Amino acid sequence: MPIEIHLRVGPPRELGGDLLVMGAFAMREGSELMTPSLKDVDRALDGALQRQLQKEEFVGKPDQAVMLDTLGRLGTSRLLILGLGESHLFGPAAVRTFAARAARAGNAEKAASLGVVVPNEAVKHARSLAEGLELGAYRFTKYLTGDRAPKTELARAILGFGVKPKGLTKSQIAIGRRVGEAINLARDLSNEPGNVMYPESFAAAAAHLAKSAGLKIETFDFAEIRRRGMKLIEAVGRGSAREPRLVHLSYVPKGAKRVLAFVGKGVTFDSGGLSIKPAAGMGEMKHDMSGAANVLGLMAAVAAIGPKIEVHAIAPCAENMPDGDAYRPGDIWSSLDGKTVEIVNTDAEGRLILADALAFARSLSPDVIVDNATLTGACVVALGQTCSGWYASDESAADEFQAAVEQSGETMWRMPLLDDLREQIKSDVADIKQTGDRWGGSITAALFLREFVGDTHWVHCDIAGPAAAEKPSPTLSSKGGTGHGILTFLAMIERAAG
Ligand code: BES
Ligand code: MN
Ligand code: ZN
Repeated sequence: MPIEIHLRVGPPRELGGDLLVMGAFAMREGSELMTPSLKDVDRALDGALQRQLQKEEFVGKPDQAVMLDTLGRLGTSRLLILGLGESHLFGPAAVRTFAARAARAGNAEKAASLGVVVPNEAVKHARSLAEGLELGAYRFTKYLTGDRAPKTELARAILGFGVKPKGLTKSQIAIGRRVGEAINLARDLSNEPGNVMYPESFAAAAAHLAKSAGLKIETFDFAEIRRRGMKLIEAVGRGSAREPRLVHLSYVPKGAKRVLAFVGKGVTFDSGGLSIKPAAGMGEMKHDMSGAANVLGLMAAVAAIGPKIEVHAIAPCAENMPDGDAYRPGDIWSSLDGKTVEIVNTDAEGRLILADALAFARSLSPDVIVDNATLTGACVVALGQTCSGWYASDESAADEFQAAVEQSGETMWRMPLLDDLREQIKSDVADIKQTGDRWGGSITAALFLREFVGDTHWVHCDIAGPAAAEKPSPTLSSKGGTGHGILTFLAMIERAAG
């Protein structure tokens, strides 16, 4: 359930909530840690706040937090002071992180309501505040029953302002909530286990979203995938009892000047197929449709914001399983755009379904295509579990994407499309080989995909390890399975819409 957000004007003492959260900026020369409202709270606690902050050597660093019991003197039972770092770095991303930390603490304290004292510096980033509250409050608990089911839910946040918030603040809060909910939708889809989330049920979730958000939807079933010649999706999906699907959502406002297409890998479970994965960690591969979940979440956010730009989401969905009818290493399959592919390893399935989806995306004549996928373990090795890698076909696409990354504050790092490694994917028997050797695995996967985008401007995101989506990192540059990337894609859309 999304949390309710209320706005209130007045001193922190009058905010209420089971947990009261306040921020403190890092001290610089001549600056003071204690703001007037912190001093006010400290007086109500007979100086206990100041004493505790000193004892814990709290100086307002962004990784510092001090929790205090209020003995009922503040109309709330607990008080949490969060370090905000240096005030000149307190932009939208830092504001979002502050709010998310507050909400996460609310859940940890089993609070039903949360009071958050909004620093004056955060008022102009009201949207980020709401995004952070929704993201931080997120948990995936639907399969916990009886004693295991959480007994409290963080239902409400009361935001305390020093001066009356303007109408703009309220509308930004409303948008931020919808954006946070959209990302949480992607997290929910990613967290669903493979027995529940398979291509057909993913398509049903997309249809549900399309209906509630007023988006157009077109879904290709297995017969249609075959009829259209999407043979790479067919190859990957044929080993599973769950048939593949291709989902295409579109948002087409009147007078749109640009067309953006987002493609997301939807492998609802990746066993590796005949090139089967080791047992340890295989369960994590229920998150292998995080890219598809991201483009669905993105469309929910787009529908909420209503930008004047045409946006498409394309999600090729398949389950990768070993079977008597599964595709094999050594097979040669042709793609939607006609190129033939020599299969080397059935565990490199993502790039295959993406190749057909990219070729399909091109048929929509977009100005830019952005794909995102939990594509390679190599990228996780290179950048760690909280950073996604991205590649661009050309510098104009790169500039546009880099600007979006800076706006969103997500942790995404540009990787090079090294032409020298193109050798690795040359085949003796087909137009192209599916994989290279073990060196530069994320790069050769990107080079493979590049073969299918022609001269369209294109960005490819190899999104980070889809582990533990229910425990996002405090920086919110959380793992691939957690909606990482959506804020950047949305920033790109909003920038393009002007
Ligand atoms: N879904 C995996 C990649 C992955 C693994 C992402 C772990 C995040 C965490 C992908 O389908 C895969 O198995 N890739 C192989 C490619 C290899 C066979 C060329 C890999 O990375 O090992
Ligand atoms: Mn795989
Ligand atoms: Zn995979």
